[in-house]
Amino acid sequence: MDKIVIHGGKALVGSVRIGGAKNAALPILVSSLLTDGWCTYENVPHLRDIESIKQLLTHLGAEVETDGHTVRINAAGLSNHEAPYDLVRKMRASILVLCPLVARLKKARVSLPGGCAIGARPINFHLKGLTLLGADIDLDHGYVDASAKTLVGNEIFFDIPSVTGTENLLMAAVLAEGTTILRNAAREPEVVALIDVLNLMGSKIKGAGTSILTIQGVKKLRPVHVSIIPDRIETGTFMVAAALTKGSIEIKDCEPDHVTGIIHKLRQTGTEVSIKGKKIYVKGSKTIQSIDIKTLPYPGFPTDMQAQFMVLMAIAGGLSIISETIFENRFIHVSELRRLGADITVSGNAAMIKGVPSLSGAPVMATDLRASASLILAGLVAKGTTEVNRIYHLDRGYEAIEKKFQKLGADIERIQ
Ligand code: EPU
Repeated sequence: MDKIVIHGGKALVGSVRIGGAKNAALPILVSSLLTDGWCTYENVPHLRDIESIKQLLTHLGAEVETDGHTVRINAAGLSNHEAPYDLVRKMRASILVLCPLVARLKKARVSLPGGCAIGARPINFHLKGLTLLGADIDLDHGYVDASAKTLVGNEIFFDIPSVTGTENLLMAAVLAEGTTILRNAAREPEVVALIDVLNLMGSKIKGAGTSILTIQGVKKLRPVHVSIIPDRIETGTFMVAAALTKGSIEIKDCEPDHVTGIIHKLRQTGTEVSIKGKKIYVKGSKTIQSIDIKTLPYPGFPTDMQAQFMVLMAIAGGLSIISETIFENRFIHVSELRRLGADITVSGNAAMIKGVPSLSGAPVMATDLRASASLILAGLVAKGTTEVNRIYHLDRGYEAIEKKFQKLGADIERIQ
């Protein structure tokens, strides 16, 4: 299996381009299932998770063509209603096909995704919502069996705003009879991006970006040609890299409006951040100030940036507390960061980080996607050599990250 080897200590300088957002591309590619013509998507990142969803869509009977960062999908021949365990277990977001399948084929059989490294991650909101729209749901041998003669609009309340839960139910409600109201819905930019695409297809969704979404069902949707929004987590990861290495980076083709929480917190550490159109300039400060962070649903601080900020706090000048409120087990990177010399203690959903003068390179193991990114960041600033093993997860969510860091002057390479 590939590993990444980093000789740390170089200040990163230069310009980096941000790719399309994984978590926007996944539901948007799936939304093609709601139409029966060729949909064209540009700026689709080259990632393992994107390959997994394309494989699943092909399995369901869609035609999928890829040319560089453009993906074309035609679900006219959608015929198979079963998403098998082997395809779903690779990526939890596969559950997103559940509602579109019921909306188009009136039935779906989708493997239950199961837990993952960062927590149990149940799908009860998806199932409860789909039931409220009129589907019969059975759990059978590890599969969700759902069927509905017709889907009928209803009012659905999320106990906690769920990103993929909101996206899944949107894709059922758009083809349901009558009006659906989603309350306490997720407001993440990726949800808004999906709503924009669904509305271009002919859906009638109001309230994008708010926690109350009103969907007036329509009979049929048409194919679209759209570009995927920039990845705000990739943007944030490079911002932290500049701050950590006391470098100076221009981040281009990003969406500054989607990273205001990250910018706000980064400025509190003493890092200089300025914005010009779709570019963000980040300049690290000589001393990094420690700050406290609490992860929250958007527009709060993203859980997907928690591990990266923890590395920054690991070399900050003081004590910092990071509270993780979204996923119950998202501190798996802590033990690996400790191997690099970080002083971190975890108690419940809070991590206490005492800044140390420097980290020192060591072999470490990547455990989940954002944890892997944090280990790469730690390697960039650690003294000596860091070897990040099992980088399978990194390739799920960051396109050619080592090449982008090489261009910024990092001493980093992938070894096969
Ligand atoms: N939850 C439930 N029941 C449900 C659904 C969610 O209890 O039916 C809980 C979760 O356990 C969690 C909270 O609700 O405590 C929020 O989870 P959410 O459903 O929003 O997470 P998700 O949709 O599974 C997406 C992203 C994650 C990101 C989270 C939070 C995609 C494909 N995944 O997951 O991205 O961390 O939202 O923002 O959009 C990543 O990219 O590394 C990643 C993990």
